Amino acid sequence: MEISAKDIKKEFIREAAGTNVYTAVNTCSMELKPGSLTVLKGRSGGGKTTLMNMLAGILKPTEGQILYDGRDIYSMNDDELSEFRNKKTGYVPQGKSAVASLTVRENILLPCMLFGENAEDKADDLIKRFDIENIKNAYPEELSGGELRRMSIARALIREPEILFADEPTGDLDDENTELVFKLLKEQAKMGKTVFVVTHEDTAEEYADKVYLMRGGKLEG
Ligand SMILES: Nc1ncnc2c1ncn2[C@@H]1O[C@H](COP(=O)(O)OP(=O)(O)OP(=O)(O)O)[C@@H](O)[C@H]1O
Ligand SMILES: [Mg+2]
Repeated sequence: MEISAKDIKKEFIREAAGTNVYTAVNTCSMELKPGSLTVLKGRSGGGKTTLMNMLAGILKPTEGQILYDGRDIYSMNDDELSEFRNKKTGYVPQGKSAVASLTVRENILLPCMLFGENAEDKADDLIKRFDIENIKNAYPEELSGGELRRMSIARALIREPEILFADEPTGDLDDENTELVFKLLKEQAKMGKTVFVVTHEDTAEEYADKVYLMRGGKLEG
């Protein structure tokens, strides 16, 4: 599925700082293609997560449109958009997102449990591919940063979405685990998925088909 952002803008009202309107994303356009890995880089506070959330269908732009194969996703009503997102997209949020009371395997299976789907085999396959078999019955607090990341990517993939969004999926990882995560993301792109990754890593450029840089809410390059 091809995603196209057309002149999108996001303004926030910062109550605490008075009633100032703060423009987090300022008139950005970009294209995400199936079968390719697109990377978004930039300084902290530059608007990367805000832009990704608009692309992912979870934050409505103040202005502009997000088109999925030509269809404006924010013209759908809430229920339609939720269903569309659940079917089409996988999302790896910035920071920690594991459910502490569930094992690694249960965390990965969680999206399917919510939809009453049986995905035991798929979970075991992902667990093998992501090399977390030895810890599949462990709880998140017992895991390393790299293992937690691999778990959240596996969870984002369990319902086989066409599109994958990942926000700094290697934020707290060493070089070896960073390479491993990018290899897994690249593999998804090669399988035909549309993959979008926000990252600070320079190594990301080796894997990226397209790199965007964001500064102060504006896209460059
Ligand atoms: N809900 C909100 N209300 C007000 N301001 C917000 C809100 N969400 C984000 N912002 C502001 O928008 C700007 C961009 O935030 P964003 O999270 O998109 O940055 P980022 O590039 O992802 O940063 P980081 O690399 O630290 O994750 C920040 O200055 C932030 O304070
Ligand atoms: Mg962010």
